[in-house]
Amino acid sequence: MNTKTRLPDFSRYRIDFPLLQETNRGKPVIYLDSAASAQKPRQVIDAMADFYVRDYANIHRGIYELSERATRMYEETRETVRRYIHAAHKEEIVFVRGTTEGINLVAQSFGRSQWQQGDEVILSTMEHHSNIVPWYLLKEQIGVVLKVIPVTDSGAVDLEEYKKLFSPRTKMVAITHASNVLGTINPVKEITAFAHSMNVPVLVDGAQAAPHMPVDVQEIDCDFYVFSGHKIYGPTGIGVLYGKKALLDAMPPYQGGGDMIETVAFSKVTFAKTPQKFEAGTPDIAGVIGLGAAIRYMQAIGMENIYAHEQSLLHYAEPKLLAVPGLRLIGTATPKVGVISFVMDSIHPHDIGTVLDHEGVAVRAGHHCAMPLMERFNVPATVRASFGIYTNENDVDALFEAILLAKRLFA
Ligand code: ALA
Repeated sequence: MNTKTRLPDFSRYRIDFPLLQETNRGKPVIYLDSAASAQKPRQVIDAMADFYVRDYANIHRGIYELSERATRMYEETRETVRRYIHAAHKEEIVFVRGTTEGINLVAQSFGRSQWQQGDEVILSTMEHHSNIVPWYLLKEQIGVVLKVIPVTDSGAVDLEEYKKLFSPRTKMVAITHASNVLGTINPVKEITAFAHSMNVPVLVDGAQAAPHMPVDVQEIDCDFYVFSGHKIYGPTGIGVLYGKKALLDAMPPYQGGGDMIETVAFSKVTFAKTPQKFEAGTPDIAGVIGLGAAIRYMQAIGMENIYAHEQSLLHYAEPKLLAVPGLRLIGTATPKVGVISFVMDSIHPHDIGTVLDHEGVAVRAGHHCAMPLMERFNVPATVRASFGIYTNENDVDALFEAILLAKRLFA
């Protein structure tokens, strides 16, 4: 990725985020938990409020101007999302509640409808629970076998071991684009190419990549890609499942209800086409509007610029934190997104998190919904600082000072 172009001044974006103008414990907000959820810019908040104030009606139903307008805005956002991830067709964009629902949809529709006992799914050790448990449910329901790619000491997937996991029973590779704990950006294009050479489809969990870097699903050539609105500066409760059209067309519905049918009789129901087939019931219309505003907001800054900004913060933060005696980074493989996990000798991550919180520094401390990864690194938990568009060196300095304080308190 080209990070050599001159970066815009990111300090001008911070003022777009109302919450960051507030105080926390009487101090400026130091928000370093964007990997859990990103703060929202005024542009997103206003777009949703304006929609409720001026344009609100249900979609795909009314033959009146307001409903038609709401429908148009909703469907235009599908096109906005298509362009954002460079999908070939807008019918390949399914609105779901978030990454978790997207993966469950694929597991239950694509997987459960055609897999048998003993069929295999390949995952990696660094998966978030949302890319483990939906497949584990298939293990309980139909006897699917989970195979796991090991992770190296630096926090990369072991590609040689990955290739050895394939068998004639392999039905799916489901892997994260970027780890929510390690930050590692996985070589998903290479991973997909190998899976395809074995005639196996690939699902990529993009929850932690979509906020930080350009995503091109056609270049990756993955079969499914999922991400959440709330991590890309949009609202909660909305997300996207991308699927190649031929696959989505062949998949049975995940949920039944209104808006996903063609005709209904008690004796026979016929379904709408992709993607409506997967959007049963009144969707989160305002959420979709907010998602569109969030994407436009990021695109106006430029995904390459966002990536470069967060890389420069990583380069600032990592040596600084490593200078703290007894501090160890979990996840040193490159390339990585703006996520730094660490542990410290003889201070539990929760205690560090508590001291940081008292200093007004918001980080996540815990297992980060990645318990197998904690086990792999033999740690109970980590402290995780994660970056966004609004993060600056001042935030990193505040983190550093608070870590020194924790060290003094627990020495
Ligand atoms: N998946 C989110 C995180 O990593 C919640 O914090």
